[in-house]
Amino acid sequence: MKNLKPITHNTLPWFSEIQKEEFAVSSREILDSGQLICGKYTNLLEEKAKKVCKTNYAVAVSSATAAIEIILNYLELNGEEVLVPNNTFISTIYALRNAGATPILVDIDPKTFCIDISDVRNKITPKTRALILVHIAGYIPEYVTELKAFCKDHNITLIEDASHAFGASYQNDSAGGIGFASAISLYPTKIVTGGTGGILTTNDGGLAEFALLCRAHGNSPKGMNLQVSPNWFISEFSALLCFLQISELSEILIRRNRVADSYDQVIKRHKQLFQTQPHDDRRVHPYYKYIVKIRDNIIKKKDITEFFRSKNIELGHCYETTLSEHLSTKNIFRNQQFPNSQIFSSNHFTLPCHTGLTAKETDFICETLEEFVGSHVYNANKK
Ligand SMILES: Cc1ncc(COP(=O)(O)O)c(C=O)c1O
Repeated sequence: MKNLKPITHNTLPWFSEIQKEEFAVSSREILDSGQLICGKYTNLLEEKAKKVCKTNYAVAVSSATAAIEIILNYLELNGEEVLVPNNTFISTIYALRNAGATPILVDIDPKTFCIDISDVRNKITPKTRALILVHIAGYIPEYVTELKAFCKDHNITLIEDASHAFGASYQNDSAGGIGFASAISLYPTKIVTGGTGGILTTNDGGLAEFALLCRAHGNSPKGMNLQVSPNWFISEFSALLCFLQISELSEILIRRNRVADSYDQVIKRHKQLFQTQPHDDRRVHPYYKYIVKIRDNIIKKKDITEFFRSKNIELGHCYETTLSEHLSTKNIFRNQQFPNSQIFSSNHFTLPCHTGLTAKETDFICETLEEFVGSHVYNANKK
């Protein structure tokens, strides 16, 4: 298409003019105050996060991985087992290892691409202490109420990794406020970003206090060390940026949903080829990623990737390598099978989906998908 820049990023951060102007003014204020951590903007960010996640406490830290590690440390795990979906980001394994927990991988549900509740039932043992629910691509699965009840009945602590899901909700549940505690990532690709940063949300006052202590090396305000811990501060600049982003969360969600709605129209016409996360009006899906799963290997992922690349559009993924398959971890999970997540990892792609994607770009991506389907079906029929 004429006058269109290559769409080389599957996801990109977006800052409105208002955010840019306010960032310039308020970062001067931070410099003048000399308060570079734990200041006004860290507090404002925490207040905003509490409201969105509907929790009593929010503690801003340096990353979601730090938040996960703090939550796990609070549980005082000593080799006990924590259930984790096989399709997620590797840093969870790092946090589990540091916290002295044993990761137990669980397969994913083929409809929602989130943790599979029937495999959760298979994997629990008397040593299971916690379960990490990842709202994959920002999607809270329909069976969240069942999962909460299951965890309660089995005395399993439900932890949310809401890194993809800031602003997501399903019926009365808001991401970040569903489990005992949650971790939210503010990494540059996420729904809202501070450049770096993370937020721990919880209704548990003891955990909130522990998190405040942990982020400061475990030092009490009087300087006594109560818990040996790294430095997990968020800078005031990151907190400011993210605070400004959250102030425009509804605009961010509208823009992302506009893109997703356009893709939905194309996918609907080709249901025999593609599958997406089931959507209805009981949920707010922030579309961290717009996932498209190819049905039954009808299309080769390589073909669609190359076709899009020929049009200067880069497709992405929501974990092409599962936790059980990374070079760093595969020895730990040797000989274990996760059929749904393995099929998913090789058979899905993500269409570019971010807040700043224009209507022109979205239309071009839709046209490219239609064109690919047309040429693919034509070629397949010729064979
Ligand atoms: C599901 C998930 N969990 C955790 C993380 C780690 O986030 P952070 O980089 O803020 O530690 C990410 C980051 O990409 C993620 O996608």
